[in-house]
Amino acid sequence: MTSTSVLIRRGHVIDPANNIDRPMDVLLREGRVAAITEPGGIKSEYEEEFDANHLVVAPGFIDLHVHLREPGQAHKETIASGTRSAAAGGFTSVCAMPNTSPVNDTPETTTWMLQPDRGAVVNVFPIAAATIGSNGEKLTNFRDLQRAGAVAISDDGKPILDDNLMREALRTAARLEMPVVQHAEDPRMHPGGCMNYGVTSLRLGLRGIPNASEASVVLRDIRLTRESRAHLHVAHISTAEALDAVRRAKKENLRVTAEVTPHHFTLLDENIGHYDTAYKMNPPLRANPDRDAMIAGLKDGTLDCIATDHAPHAYHEKEQEFDRAPFGIIGLETALPLAITVLHKHFEIPLTRIVQLMSTSPARLFQLMHRGSLAVGSHADVVVFDPKMKWKFEAAKGHSKSKNTPFDGWDFMGKVMATIVGGRPVYLA
Ligand code: DOR
Ligand code: ZN
Repeated sequence: MTSTSVLIRRGHVIDPANNIDRPMDVLLREGRVAAITEPGGIKSEYEEEFDANHLVVAPGFIDLHVHLREPGQAHKETIASGTRSAAAGGFTSVCAMPNTSPVNDTPETTTWMLQPDRGAVVNVFPIAAATIGSNGEKLTNFRDLQRAGAVAISDDGKPILDDNLMREALRTAARLEMPVVQHAEDPRMHPGGCMNYGVTSLRLGLRGIPNASEASVVLRDIRLTRESRAHLHVAHISTAEALDAVRRAKKENLRVTAEVTPHHFTLLDENIGHYDTAYKMNPPLRANPDRDAMIAGLKDGTLDCIATDHAPHAYHEKEQEFDRAPFGIIGLETALPLAITVLHKHFEIPLTRIVQLMSTSPARLFQLMHRGSLAVGSHADVVVFDPKMKWKFEAAKGHSKSKNTPFDGWDFMGKVMATIVGGRPVYLA
């Protein structure tokens, strides 16, 4: 598949944006979806075909939260390696967080990230810093950053703590129709916190991060959103309390949305076991009631999407005492397998809802036009996956430069077979 027109035949198309959940043929031509018909219905010419019999064909996944580490930390990841990992995970678009070095707080850095020289194999949408250097003191120029290509504003890795600054950020972003993505944490509550506060942190003798740290920031932000009518997007939500606040905000018709990571709907703080830094991330893995709340939020629509928080770190950085190691795990290549194994197989969440959480909904949240849909005229960004295939994930064989994952050696159900971006295959299993 290298040509300008490809027919994807006999696949089971799942496209929630267009209420499609049945066998169909899809024709891609010149970077767009050219036709979608009942099987055998495409009569026009095409150069190549891909047999998707027994496979699911869906709009490519969109990850609203990845750390690509460029500029500045190419030993962890580059835009080229991170997007290759994305392609292997079925993602056709990724939104890149600004906590790079330097921080992406200028149009120049945003533009640099988007240059063809970076070698991206999937679409990259930069998220620009909310404050200069993400120092939480002075707002960046949102308008200039948006013109350069930024799709949202965030100081991810750090919260925007100052009330007045967050208020101004929401008001400014609202005028530009840009979402503000908040990393909801109040570190003043837990100096030195490195895991969830609870029985496991007490047993391990590690400083804990309480649920209130996340909930208090989410509650404050929702109050500010009520005034500005801005779009507040809560990154990597992890606690039942914060989730309840989002649920109530939605009932009030506020523009408050939230994402959950695969690790927060799968793992618990007790899985840290014997100080294993592969389980250290921020927000931390929580206790059972929080994990159950995430599943409920995925089922009832309180959670809008799944985002990976793909956060590569080098081996020598993670290989330290638990409290000294950096927060974060990679996640692009295990997202769909975890969604299918945990959400679909175990918790019986339908595949249509999973496609909605990984493609339809993220495209809408960040207004990525003509993506997250297989309607004629949409970008030809497609994922083909086998929802039944069983396989073992080996981090060493992954495409990311970093291997920091708690899922090394896990047995999964569900595997990406092909990823197509703009009509061109960028990954074939
Ligand atoms: O676990 C995390 N890693 N959480 C963050 O907020 C930042 C991220 C990173 O950049 O490594
Ligand atoms: Zn974060």
